[in-house]
Amino acid sequence: MPQDPSPASLLPGWALPVVRGGPAGPVTGRSAQRLKRDVEPRCSGSSLGPDKGSAQSPPSSSLTATPQKPSQGPSAPPTDVTPKPAAEAVQSEHSDASPMSINEVILSASGACKLIDSLHSYCFSARQNKSQVCCLREQVEKKNGELKSLRQRVSRSDSQVRKLREKLDQLRKASFPYLSSLLPPSREPPKMNPVVEPLSWMLGTWLSDPPGAGTFPTLQPFQYLEEAHISHVGQPMLNFSFNSFHPDTRKPMHRECGFIRLKPDTNKVAFISAQNTGIVEVEEGEVNGQELCIASHSIARISFAKEPHVEQITRKFRLNSEGKLEQTVSMATTTQPMTQHLRVTYKKVTP
Ligand code: HEM
Repeated sequence: MPQDPSPASLLPGWALPVVRGGPAGPVTGRSAQRLKRDVEPRCSGSSLGPDKGSAQSPPSSSLTATPQKPSQGPSAPPTDVTPKPAAEAVQSEHSDASPMSINEVILSASGACKLIDSLHSYCFSARQNKSQVCCLREQVEKKNGELKSLRQRVSRSDSQVRKLREKLDQLRKASFPYLSSLLPPSREPPKMNPVVEPLSWMLGTWLSDPPGAGTFPTLQPFQYLEEAHISHVGQPMLNFSFNSFHPDTRKPMHRECGFIRLKPDTNKVAFISAQNTGIVEVEEGEVNGQELCIASHSIARISFAKEPHVEQITRKFRLNSEGKLEQTVSMATTTQPMTQHLRVTYKKVTP
């Protein structure tokens, strides 16, 4: 029997021998090539349409394809490359299978193609998933690092708060060495008594800004720094302390402290002050909005107070449009009529 030299019969993996109901004799080299093209798997996953398949091979034909071992390639010695009848060819490889038609071959090829496609997409998505997992892992590690540094910062802040509380306790003990143990443990500020609400705009710690200005007919004009601290402890009154300092030397100068009371359900105000100059005085007046005007009601002094003595005092406090507290003080002495002695604007330094 003459050997078929066509490349189709030598194709590794696929053999296209056989004719049944077709033209007699072996498949020619050219037609085998055409068939090979038609059954070769395509990675697009698209299968041949029925018309194309039927054009190449009428339904009656029963061309078959059988897998061939790779060793049977052109380089291997051609043991038997003779086209075999379909039944024989298929049955030799698949003893329990019937011969495959060209349609089955096409279907099988397109199935293989789909399988390859899905394997490709699986590999690709697996690779993609792998890189996504890597990316996520990196992000998680980064976030963990951030969390760690935040935890460290929180713990540092906690220890700072602890230290500040300790300092505050020390200060409290220094201010009230004997009473500190009797103070309520609560660190919450006391609730303001509603009676003093009309004066609440005065509350806070204030610093002269700019420095206060001192004048009087008998004096050279001067400047001073002053801290005004106005607070409450929940009682129906405000506590105040005004402490002044020399602007250059920072030496303490005039100091006074006392209470500001409101007659309940009125705008009547009493201002009670003790001064380091040996004066104790009471001023009374009215609060209207964010302005308090008071005038001396009674003035007492130590027996050895310096002269000239002050005989009358008037004051005005107001919160200006910039949120700053202003105070003006005028006085009359044994030698001078009522004249302005002080004018100062304070900037709030606490909430
Ligand atoms: C309501 C509060 C104050 C009263 C009643 C008052 C009263 C007086 C009086 C009676 C004099 C003597 C005036 C004279 O010699 O003719 C005086 C002087 C003076 N005051 Fe005041 N004063 C008060 C607040 C202040 C403040 C807050 C300062 C700020 C530092 C201050 C600084 C001075 C200075 C520097 C003199 C001149 C030197 C002296 O006599 O010590 N005063 N004051």
